[in-house]
Amino acid sequence: MASKKEPGNAPETAKSSRTPKPPAAKPRKMPSPDTASASKGAKPQPPAKSPQAPPPAAELLPEADQELEQILLLLQKVTGVNFTLYKRSTLRRRIMRRMVLHKLDNLQSYLSLLKDKPAEVEALHQDVLIKVTSFFRDEGAFEVLKKSVFPEIAPTKSGEGSLRFWVPGCSSGEEAYSLAMSWLEFIGDRGTTAPIQIFATDVSEAVIDKARLGFYLENIASEVSPERLRRFFVKVAGGYQISKPIRDMCVFARQNLIQDPPFSKLDLISCRNLLIYLQTALQKRIIPMFHFSLQPTGFLMLGVSETIGTFARLFDLVDKKYKIYCKKSPLDQ
Ligand SMILES: C[S@@+](CC[C@H](N)C(=O)[O-])C[C@H]1O[C@@H](n2cnc3c(N)ncnc32)[C@H](O)[C@@H]1O
Repeated sequence: MASKKEPGNAPETAKSSRTPKPPAAKPRKMPSPDTASASKGAKPQPPAKSPQAPPPAAELLPEADQELEQILLLLQKVTGVNFTLYKRSTLRRRIMRRMVLHKLDNLQSYLSLLKDKPAEVEALHQDVLIKVTSFFRDEGAFEVLKKSVFPEIAPTKSGEGSLRFWVPGCSSGEEAYSLAMSWLEFIGDRGTTAPIQIFATDVSEAVIDKARLGFYLENIASEVSPERLRRFFVKVAGGYQISKPIRDMCVFARQNLIQDPPFSKLDLISCRNLLIYLQTALQKRIIPMFHFSLQPTGFLMLGVSETIGTFARLFDLVDKKYKIYCKKSPLDQ
């Protein structure tokens, strides 16, 4: 399924692998995320008009911030997720899509609909959490991990517990499983035996359920090589399931990155294509939290359109293209 490109700044070029009618997945208990406590956008440019195109967001959603705030409050009340520091441009576009779907032309009517129909609140909630992902998204990033990152972290744990990776905003699991596969390819016949745990979290319970199941449609063959399909998947009716040893490396759980406690003592955090949907103020809270969560020798990988912003004092750049950083030692900060 080709994914829609989010206008403006969003990097939504990957595919979303849908999982139909899943067999029952056994939820695994997530180890508690350790002790530490985690701690008006510009008016969107109207797209060119065409006879079929819906009215531009700026027309449907003028500076009606009062209603927008009420919608965000309602979303928070029902879902527990506070969207006030998500980028307004994305929120507006997503709300507009829902309004067009319901043939509504003003925010007040849409607010009334939300108040009357809890199902619409859930639909909007799922819509604003943009869950597009794919296996080996920005594939070169995984090659850089194998070449420059894994060799640095593999020896640090010989004989002293497991390596710990964290994938916040993991969507339906493709990124976490791609990391697991890359790790196994890396260790190959190196004889590294350090066990590894990949904690993969998302604020959406629905995608976490899909991720745990590890079942994907046949069209993932366009993202996953035949060799990887043979080695890491089991062919099942209608698609492929991630093989048990790979599923056992990953622990999926619901976690809200902006309000739940983070993990700690991590060797790698891969948080790709989530920060881009958050306002700078929120990004500025999350980057130092990642720094805190990493081992002194830990690495951070962001999405290709994301950066650590003003926190160069906390991280050294390892790979510019794939936004891979390593934690600076306290002496260098
Ligand atoms: C565009 S997807 C990125 C998926 C994957 N990291 C990738 O790069 O392919 C963004 C994910 O972030 C999740 N997300 C958004 N806000 C979040 C939050 N506050 N806490 C945890 N996950 C969140 C969404 O549910 C969505 O699955």
